[in-house]
Amino acid sequence: MEFPDELLAALRDARHIEVFTGAGVSAESGIPTFRDALTGLWENYDAATLASPEGFAADPALVWGWYEWRRMRVLQAQPNPAHYAIAALAAGCARFTLITQNVDDLHERAGSADPIRLHGSLHRPRCSACEAPYRLPPGIPDEPEGGRRLDPPRCGHCGAPVRPGVVWFGENLPQTAWEAALQATEACDLMFSIGTSALVWPAAQLPALAAQRGAVVVQVNPGETSLDGYAHYNLRGAAGVAMPGLIRRLTPYRENFP
Ligand code: APR
Repeated sequence: MEFPDELLAALRDARHIEVFTGAGVSAESGIPTFRDALTGLWENYDAATLASPEGFAADPALVWGWYEWRRMRVLQAQPNPAHYAIAALAAGCARFTLITQNVDDLHERAGSADPIRLHGSLHRPRCSACEAPYRLPPGIPDEPEGGRRLDPPRCGHCGAPVRPGVVWFGENLPQTAWEAALQATEACDLMFSIGTSALVWPAAQLPALAAQRGAVVVQVNPGETSLDGYAHYNLRGAAGVAMPGLIRRLTPYRENFP
């Protein structure tokens, strides 16, 4: 993949780089993107129904079983070169912010420290009533019996069902995370948008906000998105190819790239 000299120069000059990721950054780790996650046993279910308070209230075992299946897939997966390249980018620049919509932990496993998590985490379930954090048993969960329904555990404090620690459709983003994401987007001078369809608001507005402020916006996506009109550079390709390729072209970051 070729990179314009102006982009390489902008990266070298950038004082504060922000990276915003979506499910596409984990695609090459074998984690289905959100909208094609419903394969096999789950193909007859609508993700927006499963990922909602109403869906959980109607059938907690079905929703918990789906999220445990997703968590199992993540625990079996490994970070891909895109995750490592993003961690290397952070190590090689003055100020860096990683914001992710993903609920997997592949960024952290690749060495990125405390990403801003706009949609929560598969690995941090909590009580559906008193919100007490729930400690998951170590190891990889077994494939739920019948591959589908699994009764959620009960909260040790109040006995209510435990729910996934993710933001569902119709729920607000965590206020602290959202404010931190807005602050970083106001301050950065270069922003990557990697592997997101930019369909789900308010997260999807961040790259447009950055572009409107005058930051350089670089989109990495094999497909077209609504951000095409905002991005100064559209790197049409897989994140696992584009990001390592870019990092290797940037001498200051080379020593940090594994
Ligand atoms: N490299 C880069 N981008 C990729 C790759 C890849 N290897 N493979 C797929 N993509 C792109 C697709 O072209 C698509 O634009 O990743 C994007 C994934 O889009 P979605 O599945 O919509 O995922 P995302 O944008 O993260 O969804 C945002 O919506 O569904 C909710 O809460 C959920 O966090 C999710 C949010």
